[in-house]
Amino acid sequence: MTSREIMSLTDQYILHTYGRFPVAIDHGEGATLFDPEGNAYIDFTSGIGVSDLGYGNQPWADAIAAQAKKLGHVSNLFYTEPPARLAEILCRRTGMSGVFFANGGGEANEGMIKLARKYSFDKYGQGRAAIITLNNSFHGRTITTLTATGQAVFHNYFFPFTEGFRYADANDLASLEAAAGDDVCAVMVELVQGEGGVLPLDRDYVHAVAKLCAERDWLLLVDEVQTGVGRTGSLFAFQQYGILPDVASFAKGIAGGLPMSGILANEKCRDVLGPGTHATTFGANPVCAAAGLVVQETLSDAFLEDVQAKGTYLRNQIEALDLPCFGATRGLGLMIGIEVRDGFSNKEIANKLIENGLLVLTAGPGMRLLPPLVISKEEMDKGVAIMKETLG
Ligand SMILES: Cc1ncc(COP(=O)(O)O)c(C=O)c1O
Repeated sequence: MTSREIMSLTDQYILHTYGRFPVAIDHGEGATLFDPEGNAYIDFTSGIGVSDLGYGNQPWADAIAAQAKKLGHVSNLFYTEPPARLAEILCRRTGMSGVFFANGGGEANEGMIKLARKYSFDKYGQGRAAIITLNNSFHGRTITTLTATGQAVFHNYFFPFTEGFRYADANDLASLEAAAGDDVCAVMVELVQGEGGVLPLDRDYVHAVAKLCAERDWLLLVDEVQTGVGRTGSLFAFQQYGILPDVASFAKGIAGGLPMSGILANEKCRDVLGPGTHATTFGANPVCAAAGLVVQETLSDAFLEDVQAKGTYLRNQIEALDLPCFGATRGLGLMIGIEVRDGFSNKEIANKLIENGLLVLTAGPGMRLLPPLVISKEEMDKGVAIMKETLG
């Protein structure tokens, strides 16, 4: 099919919940994508932080094909090897004690919220179920995770929302204290607010929150849906911050492009969700887990160091362009935010770059770059050259 045919069929039969760019993607290689007509696009998006191994990755495709031939799905009523091995690796590499696998980021956060409420119920009984989240956060699109999301714009249309969420300002301990109360069971944060604009939390603030949580027996829930799986240059961002959360959620890059997510629980929380309290039919799918094992093999410590170096390189190259529309860059590893100066629109900038062969994302009022973690120097340079030609 041509690009035009794909777009027209999509618009006719798929509900219009997305504002799509007028580009159809057919295939990819490394960090470069191609439309059906063969036009190339340098990818600074990795499908919103998912395709960390890029496109056409042979070991990843082989592992998926081999597992699909052997066993596609059998449910969690039985034992299978790939998710067990993946869970072992995740626990070993993080110091966490157990994993629950789900399918998407919002769903993983639902599990994390359920775990926190049950932990508190088991220990303290009813009336201690409130969760404090941060203003400007993003935690998902289910009714409960929309409520957890600290942005008023998401609290529309779908009333009634789930009770029991309060919001505090990021990097402001007094604001967190003001939201505290006897009814609180947990604090939930993104260490780098992604959708909100790529805003890393201050290290001292994060340590102070962790201390407060430990003192009051509030669970510290870290949403690593976007920051996790190597994106920030460590396997999880909490490792760089030097904390061990009670529970952390992950999704996006965990299986390199197949739908998989989950939560990691520490020793204190590993037995909170017992049989019958939480489940999902597709969770721990062996094909997705086989893909996840290839991701873990690829994300060695040396590879993760390289992610840091690539992030620094790309930010320096962009800042050196000194473009009229861009201010400072920020972020961690290959999770990069670019400030858009007053008088310029991030949406218009994205449209122009995409038209000229560079796929980018927006977040808050700025730009957001989440390239595949395997992106080459040559591909980064090509992308930066497109920025210069388009916006210089
Ligand atoms: C931090 C964070 N949490 C949760 C989600 C929701 O994930 P999903 O779209 O897979 O449900 C996202 C998605 O962008 C996210 O960035």
